[in-house]
Amino acid sequence: MDKFKVRGGKPLRGRIEIGGAKNSALPCLAATLLTADTVTLHNVPYVRDLITQRRLLEDLGATVLTPELRTHKVTAGNIEVFEAPYHLVKTMRASVLALGPLLGRFGQAKVSLPGGCAIGTRPIDLHLKAFEQLGATVSLESGDVVARAPKGRLVGSVIDFEKVTVTGTENVMMAAALAKGATTIRNAAEEPEIEDLAELMNKMGARIKGAGTSTITIEGVEGLGGAEHTIIPDRIETGTFMVAAAITDGEIEIRSCRPDHLTAVIEKLREAGVEIDELNPSTLLVRRSSAGLVARDVTTEPHPNFPTDMQAQYMALMTQADGESKVIETIFENRFMHASELIRMGADIAISGNTAVVRGKRRLMGAPILASDLRASASLVLAALCADGETVIDRVYHIDRGYETIVRKLRSLGADIERIKEGLVAEVETEV
Ligand code: EPZ
Repeated sequence: MDKFKVRGGKPLRGRIEIGGAKNSALPCLAATLLTADTVTLHNVPYVRDLITQRRLLEDLGATVLTPELRTHKVTAGNIEVFEAPYHLVKTMRASVLALGPLLGRFGQAKVSLPGGCAIGTRPIDLHLKAFEQLGATVSLESGDVVARAPKGRLVGSVIDFEKVTVTGTENVMMAAALAKGATTIRNAAEEPEIEDLAELMNKMGARIKGAGTSTITIEGVEGLGGAEHTIIPDRIETGTFMVAAAITDGEIEIRSCRPDHLTAVIEKLREAGVEIDELNPSTLLVRRSSAGLVARDVTTEPHPNFPTDMQAQYMALMTQADGESKVIETIFENRFMHASELIRMGADIAISGNTAVVRGKRRLMGAPILASDLRASASLVLAALCADGETVIDRVYHIDRGYETIVRKLRSLGADIERIKEGLVAEVETEV
């Protein structure tokens, strides 16, 4: 398994380009299953999860061409298989996004029930209940979810989600697009990735209104066609590099981003002593304020509030802030795995239930540490960049799932970081 070796203490300075949003590219690639025509997606990030998603589409029978690294031309013309196999689902839960389009277009779908992951049990009960409300029969057969539309076609309905679920909202949008009649989703997720998926699907001929709000309506149509679409920038990569500028006391110009997708993060970081200039609608200039970082509490909540995917990165920043801050995680039940590794580096963090109390302005010392999940890995890299001495982070395959060429981007900003290849050469040459 690859490792990162980081020697901290260098302020990061320079400019970087933000890549396409992993959590938009994943549902958008799934949506290509809704038509036999070719769908072309641009700005697809070159990260492990998207390589897995591409494999899944090809396993189902779709043709995927990549005329250039970040452009995927998908033609799901001759889908003969309606099953997402366990060996793919176990590496990437987002494979469940195949359920909606397969059920919607073919009236059948079989997906291995995803296990939990480091951050929580991650059930999909709300997805399955929604499919039943759309007229599907859903059963569990030796670890696989088997869904069928008895009459071959789903029927529109009103779906009232008891909890906000991002991929649940996306799965229902895709299933309902070809259903008979209209579907309304209430308590829908409002993330920018939902709007991006709706924009792609409407280009394909779907009739979706209200994406980005808590109520989405989908008018079922007879069929969908091809389209061309550019994936939105990754707001979590953007937030991660904003923290990188502040935690290393450097200055980074962040290009090709969407500040309007990050208002809660920008607001919180400004409160905590980070200076953020919006140079234009797609560029941010970020540095620590001369007054220094101050401890500020944060609570993670569904969009448009502070995103859970930025919680770990923010906690790393709070170890360097003056004072005590509370980091409250309300979305996942076990998303503090990074805390124990930060403590190994000298951070003062006390966990009680879903609340972490961080006592800041602690000098961090480099140490051998372990990455546990995607965003925890980012948090540990940020901490290593500001720690004294050398840190070796193991199991960095987690970070390769969602951050494209992160070592190259950090080195371009002056970071002293290198990837150590262990054993087999990394399956994906991620530092293209
Ligand atoms: C999406 O996961 C993202 N993944 C996650 O990003 C993100 O952290 C999460 O949304 C929350 O914003 C993708 O978009 C591919 P949820 P998702 O369904 O859809 C519970 C990253 O780091 N729930 O919104 O799986 C669930 O347990 C990843 O890029 C049910 O109980 O999350 C959680 O507590 C990590 N039953 C809460 O709802 C269900 O059927 C929110 O989960 C579905 C969800």
